[in-house]
Amino acid sequence: MVQYLTVNVTEMFRDPVFYKSLKEIVLPKLAAYPNIKIWHAGCSTGEEVYSMAILLHEAGLLDRTRIYATDLNPANLEKAASGVVQLEYMKEYTANYIQSGGEQEFSDYYTARYDKVILNKELRRNVTFFSITSLPTKCLTSFS
Ligand SMILES: C[S@@+](CC[C@H](N)C(=O)[O-])C[C@H]1O[C@@H](n2cnc3c(N)ncnc32)[C@H](O)[C@@H]1O
Repeated sequence: MVQYLTVNVTEMFRDPVFYKSLKEIVLPKLAAYPNIKIWHAGCSTGEEVYSMAILLHEAGLLDRTRIYATDLNPANLEKAASGVVQLEYMKEYTANYIQSGGEQEFSDYYTARYDKVILNKELRRNVTFFSITSLPTKCLTSFS
C-alpha cells in the first residue's frame, strides 16, 4: 500500500548548485576524517545516492565512506539497489552533472542497455539500502 502513497520525485544531481557546494565546501572538510558515514533519508529510487557516490569518488573519498540509504517505500529501495535508470533521463542528468562541477565523462559511470542504463556497481559498493523500519539503530549514530 505504502508504494502508492509516497511522492518519489528524484533526479541525479538534482539542484546542481547544491552539489557544487557539496563538492567545493563540504567534501574538502570531510577529507579530514579517516572514516565518513552518510545517511540519505528518503532516498527514493537512489539517484541522489549515486550522485553522492560519484562526487565522493571524484574527491577520492568513496573508499573510506559508508552510505546508508533509507526509504519508507520498499519498491523504491529495490529499484535503488538495482542501479537501473531510464535512458531517456540521461541527457538531463548529464547536464546536471556538468553544472555540478563533474570532472569526468558522465557516461563513464554507467552502461547503456536498450532503453535503460545500469550505474556502475562500484558506486554502490559502500552503500546499504534499508527500509527505514529495519535500519539497525546502532548505525544511526555518528554521521559525518
Ligand atoms: C520526493 S522523494 C525525494 C527523493 C530524494 N531525497 C531527492 O531529493 O531526490 C521523497 C522520498 O521520501 C520517502 N519518504 C517519505 N516519507 C518518509 C518517511 N517517513 N521515512 C522514510 N522515507 C520517507 C518517499 O518514499 C520518497 O521516496
